[in-house]
Amino acid sequence: MMKEWTREERYRELTRDALGELQQLHETVSASPYRCTYHVQTVTGLLGDTNGFSYFKDRWHLFFQWFPYGPVHGLKHWYHVSGPDLIRWENEGVALIPDRYEDNKGDFSGSGFACGDKLYLPFTGNHRDEDWTRTPYQLLAVMDEDGNITKQDKILYGPVEGYTEHQRDPKLFYRKEDDSYYFLLGAQDMNKKGKFLLFRSKQIEEGWELLGELKVRGYDDFGFMVECPDLERVGDDWLLLFSPQGVEPQEDEFRNIYQNVYFIGQMDFDNLEFIPNGPYKELDRGFDFYAAQCAGQDVMPDAAVMCAWFGVSDYVYEPQVEHGYSGLQTMARVMTIEDGKLMQRPPKAVYGLKDELLLRIHEGKTEKDILNGRMEPACLIRADNIDDRPFEMCLFCTEDQKGFTVSCRNGKLTVEREEVINKLNTAYGTDRSVRCENGLHSLEIFVDHSCIEIFVNDGEYVLSARVFPCANENGFRAEGLDELAVYRLNASVKDDFVIFPDQKQE
Ligand code: FRU
Repeated sequence: MMKEWTREERYRELTRDALGELQQLHETVSASPYRCTYHVQTVTGLLGDTNGFSYFKDRWHLFFQWFPYGPVHGLKHWYHVSGPDLIRWENEGVALIPDRYEDNKGDFSGSGFACGDKLYLPFTGNHRDEDWTRTPYQLLAVMDEDGNITKQDKILYGPVEGYTEHQRDPKLFYRKEDDSYYFLLGAQDMNKKGKFLLFRSKQIEEGWELLGELKVRGYDDFGFMVECPDLERVGDDWLLLFSPQGVEPQEDEFRNIYQNVYFIGQMDFDNLEFIPNGPYKELDRGFDFYAAQCAGQDVMPDAAVMCAWFGVSDYVYEPQVEHGYSGLQTMARVMTIEDGKLMQRPPKAVYGLKDELLLRIHEGKTEKDILNGRMEPACLIRADNIDDRPFEMCLFCTEDQKGFTVSCRNGKLTVEREEVINKLNTAYGTDRSVRCENGLHSLEIFVDHSCIEIFVNDGEYVLSARVFPCANENGFRAEGLDELAVYRLNASVKDDFVIFPDQKQE
């Protein structure tokens, strides 16, 4: 039986008095078989959207939406992790605690922008009155070189008239052509349509003016709300990423409850218009992916580095909830635009985690096999020379159940989690498919205990899925693959108990 949470319990602020209780909760959490070893996960409670992703003072900084006390959506704080290479991450502790009028009911999502010796963290303060009426405020926190974070008293922007209470998730960037800062906001207009709002200022701390709605040429339907918008320059192109709510499924696409999509195109700042090269597409073709965010602009001139919440809204991942926590961040992805197409690749450092080769099939012959039909909980599975030939791989299978399958049938890549014991979100289907434009050639599958990320054709498509295997779901089978290798992957995250930054041990 899942615990019922009262409003009071959900809106409890993080205080030091709670440390003992949270430590106990962390003991339950860290004993969970679903803990990952190379993904960012929460110490306790619920993890949500990627926030404040940035590169500052020679380190990557990643924050996420966090409710400390349990695996439910409640009073949102920001939690902070940092690391040198997008794979090794250290827990840094809480970054933002709701503590003022404007954010009395949560520090909602926002971005990170490094400038000089400061890391700017604009975010949305979620204010609610006693009668629970919501008013959004765009606020700013600043992190110094020593990692101290202070919220600025002055608000960046208050609620915009002509839109509903849904205005949030500022993405800050700089544009050198007019030496100005901008932030893009997700909003809902009075007709309940999702919109993008663009703001500009000469300084980050103040002076913000609303320029108006950013239109997308040829497109005006983004469902009922746009969450977590992100505008990112990649080489000579711009990427517009966002999470629209209320987009209808179309055959194999847009089958999750809410989507996370991108346009590639050009920005016309004078006319507040994004001019796309083609229709928007899903960033990830799997089951569990939302609220993606790129690290503050220009970290890499020809690439964007992105991370996302490895989950979907309005759904409870029950098997994990029993262990006192919920949520995960995806592996960061390096995104480039090649021949007009978005390519997404894992960070190079993940290959540094490669340990023993457990299975190798070459030219159809088994050259090494110390896996013996066992599923390695943290591994990299690499298949080559597929060339649209049929195959089937069963991950976390048992003798009579296929577990999580990855297969190719009639030239289509399909992933399925029908034959798993812990079924997930079945209302939105148990399979996802991709017909690869230029055929299916190679797969790189990263498995980490309770998550699977599949990179197709060196980054042409990615499919992500959570799985919560039971103890007896521990088999691996592959049929029809002539080139296959499985490597064990070492750990790169430590499951240490850090709630407040001063608990961190060097
Ligand atoms: C997306 C979202 C954001 C909001 C945050 C609150 O998942 O709804 O729009 O800022 O989550 O946790």
